[in-house]
Amino acid sequence: MATVRYRAIAFVAALMFSMDWIARAEAEPLKIIFDHDGGIDDFVTLLLLLSRPADVKLLGITILDADCKIDLAVNTTLKILYTLGFRDVPVAASSLQGANPFPELWRWSPLRRVPYCRTVDVQPLINGMRPEELEPQRVKTPGEDFLAELLLAQPEPVTLVSTGPLSNVAHVLTRYGEAAASKIKKIYWMGGALRAHGNVVAPGHDGTAEWNAYWDPEAVGAVWRSRVPLVLVPLDATNAVPVTPDLVYRFGPQSDSRYSVLAGIIWSKVISWVYERPHEPYYAWDTLTAACVLRPGLCEVEETVETYAVTEGRSQGRTALADDADEDAGTCRPEEGAEGGSGRGGACSAAVLRGGTPPRNVSVVWRVEAEAFYAFVLEALRV
Ligand SMILES: *[C@@H]1O[C@H](CO)[C@@H](O)[C@H](O)[C@H]1NC(C)=O
Ligand SMILES: *[C@@H]1O[C@H](CO)[C@@H](O)[C@H](O)[C@H]1NC(C)=O
Repeated sequence: MATVRYRAIAFVAALMFSMDWIARAEAEPLKIIFDHDGGIDDFVTLLLLLSRPADVKLLGITILDADCKIDLAVNTTLKILYTLGFRDVPVAASSLQGANPFPELWRWSPLRRVPYCRTVDVQPLINGMRPEELEPQRVKTPGEDFLAELLLAQPEPVTLVSTGPLSNVAHVLTRYGEAAASKIKKIYWMGGALRAHGNVVAPGHDGTAEWNAYWDPEAVGAVWRSRVPLVLVPLDATNAVPVTPDLVYRFGPQSDSRYSVLAGIIWSKVISWVYERPHEPYYAWDTLTAACVLRPGLCEVEETVETYAVTEGRSQGRTALADDADEDAGTCRPEEGAEGGSGRGGACSAAVLRGGTPPRNVSVVWRVEAEAFYAFVLEALRV
């Protein structure tokens, strides 16, 4: 088994120690489309993506009705953009719904009366405008189609930062095909769990999936069946970066920066998680994903990892190493035994991975140094 494994996975550790932002070396800012789902963490991620306009050009934002209520998530996003002077970034609400809604615990405040994102939406700092001033940036086209429109209009492929379920992306790939897919340089997706345990606790599920994947397992399948370059930022990496009171305190000395005050306020909404749920605190899931785009040296990436996704049954939403499928399925060994060990795309794997996609290669962020990440976010938001 071990030899097969080593042959199958070519380990290319692209650990770069560059301290520069990714686009610094290039003349043009990195063009990014941000696809999020309105969680607390998504808004800090937005701040990070806005913090260096010379390096990052945000082309547009699409939002799913997943980790918040969609109308609030859109409003809050519009307010942050307007407040920070980004009055040309369009925001579109997706009409798609996943098969498995997020837990109420995540979407709603502890008393279950107020969506978490309301606690951000009410902040005076982002409510200085009249409501109608936000309207020009509110896109009427459904987010999933707007994402396609945006992509199709691009002269060159752009980067997609996706920090919610993959529904919008899957819709674009399925409905608009290669024309849209060819405009995606890379998708950085916060999602999946490979060696780490999943974080789904739901009746009838075996707990192997991560929530963004579980929300819409079919969408994960569609992306896995496509060939768009995919960089996973799975729980394996995000488990290293809890949002702690200490992190939030550190915004204090830089509170003359609006970005820092906003980030501190937004994350302060969830610091109680580390006391109330020490086994499962709130993590900087999405913010880490954006940080890996903006400062690649921060994140330890393995470039070529064979994985598959499960779209149905008790493990739906699971993303797994193709090697694990071999271990699960002794019956497959004889066919597998052929020399070369190149890929698992054959009939053997297809028979084994019940409810799963054929394997495909993805890049995986396995590890990040928590303090380096925290320091980067603090530095970036000191503007
Ligand atoms: C979102 O903003 C619009 C326009 O200001 C407002 O009418 C609507 O009530 C807001 N939605 C929520 C849920 O607050
Ligand atoms: C993944 O990449 C490796 C190394 O390039 C290659 O040998 C393998 O066939 C690829 N797997 C799939 C499923 O494409």
